[in-house]
Amino acid sequence: MTNAEVKYGLAGVLADDTAISKVMPEINSLTYRGYKVQDLATQCRFEEVAYLIWNGELPNKAQLGAFNAAEKAERGISKDLLSVMEKFNKKAHPMDTLRTAVSFLGQEDDTTEDSSPEGLMEKSIRMYARIPEIVAADFRLRNGKAPIPTTKDLAFSENFFHMCFGEVPAPEIIKCFDISMTLYAEHSFNASTFTARTIASSTSDIYSAVTGAIGSLKGPLHGGANEAVMHMLKEVGSPEAAREWMLDALATKKKIMGFGHRVYRSGDSRVPTMTEAYKKMVDVIGTVEAKNYWEMSRILDETMVAEKGIYPNLDFPAGPAYYLMGFEIPMFTPIFVVSRITGWTAHVMEQLANNKLIRPLSNYNGAAQRDVVALGER
Ligand code: COA
Repeated sequence: MTNAEVKYGLAGVLADDTAISKVMPEINSLTYRGYKVQDLATQCRFEEVAYLIWNGELPNKAQLGAFNAAEKAERGISKDLLSVMEKFNKKAHPMDTLRTAVSFLGQEDDTTEDSSPEGLMEKSIRMYARIPEIVAADFRLRNGKAPIPTTKDLAFSENFFHMCFGEVPAPEIIKCFDISMTLYAEHSFNASTFTARTIASSTSDIYSAVTGAIGSLKGPLHGGANEAVMHMLKEVGSPEAAREWMLDALATKKKIMGFGHRVYRSGDSRVPTMTEAYKKMVDVIGTVEAKNYWEMSRILDETMVAEKGIYPNLDFPAGPAYYLMGFEIPMFTPIFVVSRITGWTAHVMEQLANNKLIRPLSNYNGAAQRDVVALGER
């Protein structure tokens, strides 16, 4: 094999078929099961989108009712998991806590080894129902507060806010969060999804696949970018400083978090919808802080596009939106998981429905074959 045949970062490699989502950078579009993601985000609740991702069709009222009842029936993490979480290192990143907690879900579930289609769907709904509570409980525990138990009276997004803050915010804030859930839910063969498929391909269990995917998503070149964006906005400090900050960062060849994408080269189709929801939320919140973050985002975006022609990705508006909702910065990537659990598990199911062990080749470029010299003679 020659070097020329190596596809570094697997860039441009078609690794398998998928019917879950389609990324079309040439027309700046992303569809889930054939529906434009921006239409789903604005016209459907996240619960409908979760059903669509798993089942291939949008639900009718009866199907949605049964699906939501199944999710609510799975809410509630075990006392064992909660007591383990109480002992976790509070200085660890919440993604480390979430990764360990999901691994625990697999350890305590007697059906972990059941990878039948029904068994996989049950466990997918279980993780979709319980991951929000893990993220919320961790947030409260690390702030010295008692976790708030899940309630079956509230819808998915409302329940998450209730478990974090003990209250449900204004509808515009819920809508912005719910939109972000839909936009983050699925994105074809990104690094974490491919990790989940790779683990599933060895016919390991679905919890292992999700645990590995969480580890992959944590990196700042992937899901961790929404946190990095917020750290950047804090460093910029004010709208007045934004343009100079960006010009200086570009002059010193800094990687600007929340910009660029491996697949989209002329803009991320999810960004306008998220940006609009972020703006509506800023107007409802109405504080100077909220308006300043909005202005900073706008100026950084404008400057980056004008200077480098590199466009923002979804993490750019999502980071400050989550911050203004009241979430702590290290929670942003766990919140991404609250949504992406749908896409990951749909991919695990798709992989196992037509499984082939994922095992690429490598181009060896190390030492030539040689003989071992005995220890005393080296
Ligand atoms: N800031 C500054 N320059 C950037 C950039 C960014 N965020 N993203 C890409 N570029 C530049 C690169 O420096 C490179 O320039 P060069 O050709 O002069 O060296 C060129 O654009 C191509 O970038 P490259 O890193 O090769 O593209 P990629 O496909 O490997 O990387 C990302 C894609 C997402 C990893 C990259 O854009 C990035 O690191 N972005 C910031 C992190 C982020 O927001 N991640 C979330 C992704 S959804």
